[in-house]
Amino acid sequence: MIGLSIAWRAAQRGLRVVVADPSPGQGATHAAAGMLTPVAEAAYAERELFALGQESLRRYPAFVAELERVTGRVTGFRQTGTLQVAYDRDDLEVLDEFRALQDSFGVATRPLTARECRSAEPMLDPSVRGGLLAGDDGSIDARLLAAALLQAATAAGARHVPLGVTELLIAAGRAAGVALADGTTVTCGQVVLAAGWQSADIDGLPEGAAPPVRPVKGQIIRLRTTAATAAAGLPPGLLQRTVRAVVRGSSVYLVPRDSGELVVGATQEELGPDTTVTAGGLWELLRDARTVVPGITELALADAVARLRPGTPDNAPVLGAAQLPGLVIATGHFRAGVLLAPVTADTVAAYLCSGEPDPLWAAFPPDRFARTLVTAARKGPRS
Ligand code: GLY
Repeated sequence: MIGLSIAWRAAQRGLRVVVADPSPGQGATHAAAGMLTPVAEAAYAERELFALGQESLRRYPAFVAELERVTGRVTGFRQTGTLQVAYDRDDLEVLDEFRALQDSFGVATRPLTARECRSAEPMLDPSVRGGLLAGDDGSIDARLLAAALLQAATAAGARHVPLGVTELLIAAGRAAGVALADGTTVTCGQVVLAAGWQSADIDGLPEGAAPPVRPVKGQIIRLRTTAATAAAGLPPGLLQRTVRAVVRGSSVYLVPRDSGELVVGATQEELGPDTTVTAGGLWELLRDARTVVPGITELALADAVARLRPGTPDNAPVLGAAQLPGLVIATGHFRAGVLLAPVTADTVAAYLCSGEPDPLWAAFPPDRFARTLVTAARKGPRS
């Protein structure tokens, strides 16, 4: 998602772009629910990430309108908000804490009573205790978005090479190209490293230039309404908007699509590069989703996949020039790659042309982890 978005914007600016990717859109993007939810996904100590998400969400309508116009494709973009709901009394307390956090970030979410939640989403279980409405959040079909981006990037002049990158090539002290899996090379003036959780697995990255990304597994389910569920009076996708639920302390989200799909996600597992879809992972998701929206049991199972998010030590992306001249890093978007695609693409493409880092990158420089380690080492062990 990130690489394709940057390729599109960079090609539009007249740069000669090569996208090296054996399977574009098949990594984390393939599993992504496409939640555009900076408010509902806000977390403590992530104020800068929240602000970057809000800025990217602000850019989304124009980004999508242009993409759909130039490709003639749809992307399933919706601006219908997110309803966060709580299942039991303890979950309601978790929601109260969310609300305090959102208030502290300057966003007013609207608290809803149980009755108001049910009136907004009639398929919710009557036992839901209450909720919070983030009216400006949205969603998009990440698979459709990736296909449109690849088409738009190539139409704008980018060349797609369906091969992985094995090595970064360096000449005269700067990034000068890449070697590909078939042994051929691409030479270029600037290299953008946007390889998701595998961004550090490329030979030739100099000491300190490899971003500290790790794979964080997410399993996710796609359900679909059928002729039978329509005949039974169930609305397509069951819901009007994304529902994010806290159910006996665990989190689940349900994202409806215009197509009648309902995406239920997602696990978050630290298992290294494992993409096994497990019975236990799916069971937990379905258990929690069914608790808040019992009607899901009537839907057809369309798809269940696992992919790897690119996690970083502080959950925020790595954006900016690496220590090696000519190398730009745009990775580590973790749970927010789809949301952050427009702002990442715009700012990286601008940087490639001007050499001027965007002020929005200030909190996300590639060297921040090294600095943290050095500072911690200087301070010595805590007493
Ligand atoms: N953004 C939702 C997830 O990563 O599961």
